[in-house]
Amino acid sequence: MHMIDDPLTEGSDVASPAVGRGQGFYPFAEQQELAVILSLNIVFTAGKHNGSYFVVQAKDAFFDEVRELAVIGGAGRFRGATGYGIMSIHL
Ligand SMILES: *[C@@H]1O[C@H](CO)[C@@H](O)[C@H](O)[C@H]1NC(C)=O
Repeated sequence: MHMIDDPLTEGSDVASPAVGRGQGFYPFAEQQELAVILSLNIVFTAGKHNGSYFVVQAKDAFFDEVRELAVIGGAGRFRGATGYGIMSIHL
């Protein structure tokens, strides 16, 4: 089980302006493949969404090039949010 509290930036370059934090955890959840349950609060700390967050949960399989994330709720401007996101790794 890993806990994270990582910066969220406007772009994929870590030097681009920070807009918030990705805070959550990912326990290993599968016995047959390398995958975790990713549970994250996407917390905005700047801009017009400052103080609001939305909640993401996903199956994060390490060898999938693209992973689909479920947006399952939120607070503030994101109250009642639902939707999805797409995640890939930038090396
Ligand atoms: C975000 O909101 C907090 C709490 O209201 C405030 O202290 C902070 O200065 C704000 N940050 C920005 C970058 O506007």
